[in-house]
Amino acid sequence: MMDVTDRHCRYFLRQIAPGLQLYTEMVSAAAVLHGDRQHLLGFDPAEHPVAVQLAGNDPASLAEASRIAAGFGYDEINLNIGCPSARVSSGRLGACLMAEPDLVARCVAAMRAAVTVPVTVKTRIGIDDHDDFAFLAGFVTRVAAAGCGTFIVHARKALLQGLSPRANRTVPPLRHEVVFRLKQEFPQLRIVVNGGFDSLDGIAAALERVDGVMLGRKAADDPWFLADVQARFHGCAGLPDRGAVVRAMHAYLGREQARGVRPHHITRHMLGLYRGVPGARGWRRFLAERAGGDDATADVLLHSLAAVAAV
Ligand SMILES: Cc1cc2nc3c(=O)[nH]c(=O)nc-3n(C[C@H](O)[C@H](O)[C@H](O)COP(=O)(O)O)c2cc1C
Repeated sequence: MMDVTDRHCRYFLRQIAPGLQLYTEMVSAAAVLHGDRQHLLGFDPAEHPVAVQLAGNDPASLAEASRIAAGFGYDEINLNIGCPSARVSSGRLGACLMAEPDLVARCVAAMRAAVTVPVTVKTRIGIDDHDDFAFLAGFVTRVAAAGCGTFIVHARKALLQGLSPRANRTVPPLRHEVVFRLKQEFPQLRIVVNGGFDSLDGIAAALERVDGVMLGRKAADDPWFLADVQARFHGCAGLPDRGAVVRAMHAYLGREQARGVRPHHITRHMLGLYRGVPGARGWRRFLAERAGGDDATADVLLHSLAAVAAV
């Protein structure tokens, strides 16, 4: 998720849930080719298993960006065919490419030829008036034939005219049943459903119908929910409690600050850690206020922890 799942966020979420697959923010193939690669792609080994999400429409550039990303050690290369933003669409990237399955297939084939890790696609159930099942099935058939074995499907269509990305995550109705049907009709593919999941029972019900569930906003807003997901669906638990996560992040923040990272860039991902439990407000307020200053150090986390404990 853009502006959310940067490396600090992923490190934090990994402390909570050791087994879940994590995804980077979307990064364009052009940025990988021409930008600061260490900044764009660098990550901590503790983040595994982690997928990088690329955006692009040129097979050669995507292949080269995939090769570079695989060299950094990513476990999966994911291609974004779901972003509806006007800026992304005007670059002929993201969701609008659902209308060009042959091009997407050529991209996937080139990426596959460049790396040994899986190449996956994240997409929508349709775009604009192309919202019948045949359109989705045609896209998936073509792209799967090029070597994509996993589709992560946000169960809303994207409206490419006149809706902001934010509205495109709420206005078009959620239709999980379309993704469930996709799995029925393509049982050989790994189908992961995405969109609106915020309860363990909801995830459990979906897992009866598809191979996986991707969480977006719930993970960002209520990160400890991932500990419950880990415990219920992956058996082994993560760290024993929130305090242990904070202490692990205290050590991380100290290391990162020594490399010039500002504490706020790490702590901003942690504001929701105590959501729904006593002390949540104190934690959030203390951390937000104290971590932003120029004199903030890693100890701001221990002080915030004390603020929760005092409740
Ligand atoms: C702030 C924000 C940034 C997002 N950035 C991306 C992105 O970079 N790539 C992507 O595939 N989806 C992105 N999404 C969409 C989510 O991955 C997900 O498909 C969508 O929010 C629906 O799932 P949810 O209801 O679990 O949040 C973003 C969503 C949000 C809220």
